[in-house]
Amino acid sequence: EEIEKSGYDHFMLKEIFQQDESIYEAMRGRINAAEGWVTVGGMQDHYNRIANAERFIIVACGTSWHAGMIAEYIFEELARIPVEVEYASEFRYRNPIIGPKDVVIALSQSGETADTLSALELAKEKGALIYGIVNNVGSSIARFTDCGSYIHAGPEIGVASTKAFTSQLVVLTLMALDLAHKRGTITKSHFQKLISEFELIPQKVKSVLSQAENIKSIASEIKSASNALYLGRGYNFPIALEGALKLKEISYIHAEGYPAAEMKHGPIALIDMYMPVIVIATNKNAYEKIFSNVQEVKARKGIVIAIVSEGDTEIKKIADFTIEIPHTEDVFSPLLSSIPLQLLAYYIAVMRGCNVDQPRNLAKSVTVE
Ligand code: G6P
Repeated sequence: EEIEKSGYDHFMLKEIFQQDESIYEAMRGRINAAEGWVTVGGMQDHYNRIANAERFIIVACGTSWHAGMIAEYIFEELARIPVEVEYASEFRYRNPIIGPKDVVIALSQSGETADTLSALELAKEKGALIYGIVNNVGSSIARFTDCGSYIHAGPEIGVASTKAFTSQLVVLTLMALDLAHKRGTITKSHFQKLISEFELIPQKVKSVLSQAENIKSIASEIKSASNALYLGRGYNFPIALEGALKLKEISYIHAEGYPAAEMKHGPIALIDMYMPVIVIATNKNAYEKIFSNVQEVKARKGIVIAIVSEGDTEIKKIADFTIEIPHTEDVFSPLLSSIPLQLLAYYIAVMRGCNVDQPRNLAKSVTVE
């Protein structure tokens, strides 16, 4: 076991640090910016049905569900296909309206989650096309689907999912780019600009990982908190949910993720000098808005940990701690902004003496309903 950890203290840390490579593996053979193409092999046999779908319905649980939420933003923005994202367990127990013009996309690291598999059984009965995005080769979900793509993240041992999440995002983004290009919902030059940037992501991930020491020192400042709030807008809203989930899962600190603008409808009542507020503020589009959210938190003496883009000056001035990540297109920012949150949760959990690879009461794959 020690050897498999390759010198890391935990599988989770190893898996976090593998992400420059695992993201590259998810892209390999599916994108070539120099030649100007993206292709997702799994879509080819049913391409027309997928490209002309009335709706994509994404079903998943846990961290995979958060990847699905980001995919809703990505598919709608780039490919202009309407998307719904469902908790697999809710979907199957509410008599959903679904038919042959729908494509149901299942996201699952393990390929064995019982609720997700049951949701697919229901969708297949109703005639939808079933697409799987799975890590474990030959798993139950992979076998049940009509078509799909593996994410090639390699074995993920830590119960809290990290590298499978970013690899799911890569495959979903490639699908959206492929569809957008062929459906003509983005211009050729925009497509080219996006894929050239996308190919740079593994190297930018490396640069995020190189900030581990800074993140560790921030962790030591907030490790004794009882609660934490995560805020983000747009693509970074689901990242706020995922950051909060990571902290809950492995450190047992109560944490909530919220769309930053919703803060004033509830969580703001909780903010005081004991409340760490992690703000994901890399958005080019909504920078001013998120800046004013940070001001609101500071006015109530909350402790602000801000994830900002390199060279940020405004938020940096008022935040207590900042983590800088490389610039990228907003649509790719979750691939970078999720990583500091994984590391933050990891270091806090270790400092609190928690068993990060096998947190209490949680299982790597939930095969009961
Ligand atoms: C469990 C795991 C999570 C995972 C979720 C969904 O709760 O602890 O890490 O995100 O199941 O699993 P799946 O294998 O379907 O992605």
